[in-house]
Amino acid sequence: MKTAVADLNFELLIPYDRLEARIKELAHEISTDFKGRNPVVAGILTGSFLFVADMVKNLEIPVEVTFTKLASYFGGTSSTRRIRDDFDLTIDVKGRDIILVEDIVDTGNTLHYLIDKLKVREPASITVCTLLLKPEAIEISIEELKYVGFQIPNEFVVGYGLDYKEQGRGLMGIYRKVNN
Ligand code: XMP
Ligand code: MG
Repeated sequence: MKTAVADLNFELLIPYDRLEARIKELAHEISTDFKGRNPVVAGILTGSFLFVADMVKNLEIPVEVTFTKLASYFGGTSSTRRIRDDFDLTIDVKGRDIILVEDIVDTGNTLHYLIDKLKVREPASITVCTLLLKPEAIEISIEELKYVGFQIPNEFVVGYGLDYKEQGRGLMGIYRKVNN
């Protein structure tokens, strides 16, 4: 079954029930690892908004939630490697454990940029949790990347927060681009 998003066709890659089950596992793992701490969960908008919501609902520890907004795709289907920094975290992270929540790690450029920027603020730690990882696309390895929901092929995907031309964010699953 094909689904049209703007001018492209997509097909289901990961259904929502698998996302939901995996997010529960990740939330449990994070809760165990950060037991007794009060981390700052920092979502990277826009793509991570549903993932952050489902993650936070399943965490068993107290957290503070904040967001930053970065962009690198600008309506295309591949990274421009140019990062537009739209807005910053609103919480002072000095001495705090930060868990960065990302929708997808592709080349690694976005996280590299953000981690460099946050390190200067002297947090206690920075750990990355991403729903999706494209291992074949990585250009800069991210040593802070600890929690990965799913590894996927190097293909353009939408749904569950991710968009193509700002469309498709509400699809309840991850969909991959098909060649018509
Ligand atoms: P980099 O290359 O910096 O990319 O690791 C990370 C950011 O790029 C976006 N991205 C995608 N967005 N479908 C999308 O809708 C994709 O397949 C895709 N790959 C990367 C995303 O915003 C991510 O934060
Ligand atoms: Mg993103």
